[in-house]
Amino acid sequence: MQIQVITLFPEMFKGVFSSSMLLKAEKLKLARYSLIDLRDFGKGPRHQVDDTPYGGGDGMLLMVDPLVKAIEHAKKADPEASVVLPTPRGEIYTQYQANSLAEQAKGLILLCPRYEGYDERVTKWVDYQFSIGRYVVTGGEIPAMVIIDSVVRLIPGVLGGAKSAEIESYQDGDKVEFPQYTRPEVYRGLKVPKVLISGHHQEIANWRAGNMLRGK
Ligand code: ADE
Repeated sequence: MQIQVITLFPEMFKGVFSSSMLLKAEKLKLARYSLIDLRDFGKGPRHQVDDTPYGGGDGMLLMVDPLVKAIEHAKKADPEASVVLPTPRGEIYTQYQANSLAEQAKGLILLCPRYEGYDERVTKWVDYQFSIGRYVVTGGEIPAMVIIDSVVRLIPGVLGGAKSAEIESYQDGDKVEFPQYTRPEVYRGLKVPKVLISGHHQEIANWRAGNMLRGK
């Protein structure tokens, strides 16, 4: 899957793309990343990308033209890619949306807003608007990283076989991974639950099934 990111801060992605699972996916040729600098599509000699909002108000908005030109540039490289806009106004992003993107998207183009927002008309060129939660972060870059990570790990072959099967079970409803422990058996007086060192596979499975609930 080709993943293209349109951003004013391409350097933010370099560490993320060159580490751990996302790097592994690229080495396995299951994912390919490219960074598109929105500034390259700005207006005039200063490559202006933002302007003041009609109707007044604080801050600057990303102008529609640089955003659309950057999307068109990305589409040229991957015409069937889905365009994703991280925004606090979007649909809440959950494992369900991650699954749908991993299964259905031919490629991804992530458009990262900055400043106080963007000209709403750009949404005509966008397939999905997602919010990563009911809070606000500074710009779309970190939400884009969350979305990319959650999708790439679902591409068949990126994680080991056993692990991917395991993930399937967490896809269902509100269940999450059960708590796990490794050596030592006692740490500063804190003991590993007895059942886990009992060697009884069925009891261990039951304990794990009963502990797949979200922490408070
Ligand atoms: N941009 C700022 N906050 C965001 C959020 N919670 N989700 C997606 N994009 C955002």
